[in-house]
Amino acid sequence: MGREKLSEKKLIVMLKISNITKSFDGFFALDDVSLFVDQGVIHAVIGPNGAGKTTFFNIISGILAPDNGSVYFKGQNLAKIEPHKIVQLGIARSFQRVNIFPRKTVFENIQIALIARDQLHRSPFKKASNLFSEEVEELLKVVNLFEQVELRGGDLSHGMQKQLELAIALASQPKILLLDEPTAGMSLSETQSCIKLLKNIVQDRALTLLFTEHDMQVVFGMADYISVLHHGRLIASGPPSKIRENSEVKRVYLGNKAL
Ligand SMILES: Nc1ncnc2c1ncn2[C@@H]1O[C@H](COP(=O)(O)OP(=O)(O)O)[C@@H](O)[C@H]1O
Ligand SMILES: [Mg+2]
Repeated sequence: MGREKLSEKKLIVMLKISNITKSFDGFFALDDVSLFVDQGVIHAVIGPNGAGKTTFFNIISGILAPDNGSVYFKGQNLAKIEPHKIVQLGIARSFQRVNIFPRKTVFENIQIALIARDQLHRSPFKKASNLFSEEVEELLKVVNLFEQVELRGGDLSHGMQKQLELAIALASQPKILLLDEPTAGMSLSETQSCIKLLKNIVQDRALTLLFTEHDMQVVFGMADYISVLHHGRLIASGPPSKIRENSEVKRVYLGNKAL
């Protein structure tokens, strides 16, 4: 598929996804999906519920093995590499459902992620109350949670829990962030501040962002590049202006409504 229109910048491939197929009991959640994610790009994966987006993320992050096909990160085939090793290589992800330690404080949630990154202890739960405190504080400032440092994760608002998840993902010092519906369940104002925050973080840290999102306003307001899944097949991939005009995307995904 044509990638030439994206920008005048030289494209460096960060992720190459080649012919990924994944079925569950004969049902094809992903069917021969291939795409490139270029470095420094904000790339959205869209598609109706059940299109295969979460499965796609699970395969890139090593949580699921594909039946066929390969994922390459900066040229390295990720087949048989365990999920925690994939994180160490520079691929961090968040989940569609909030995934934090609700009984630990905000501080401890991030500290655990930092300890896991550096593998200082066999158990990331080992007591080490001052470990990484400066780095924890810095990450909390990045995601605007500095004032909540002593609260328990489970006591934060939904939007703040998502911010905490983001800080946990950033703790691994990723090159690419995979965010599965980062604004799911958020109010309009939470969504807007989340997007602003994400854009700033991606820019400041020169990250590549691959994200799924159901809100088309968010997608078209944010993405440099959009890939569309439908029934496990990639039906279109390109810059937003091309996706907006794509007749198959309009027909199968948007019910012919203007984007
Ligand atoms: N572990 C699983 N076992 C069986 N079916 C699954 C499993 N995970 C996903 N599916 C099915 O695969 C399809 C794609 O799911 P998913 O990747 O979650 O889609 P999306 O994130 O786009 O909503 C759905 O029909 C879903 O029911
Ligand atoms: Mg999903």
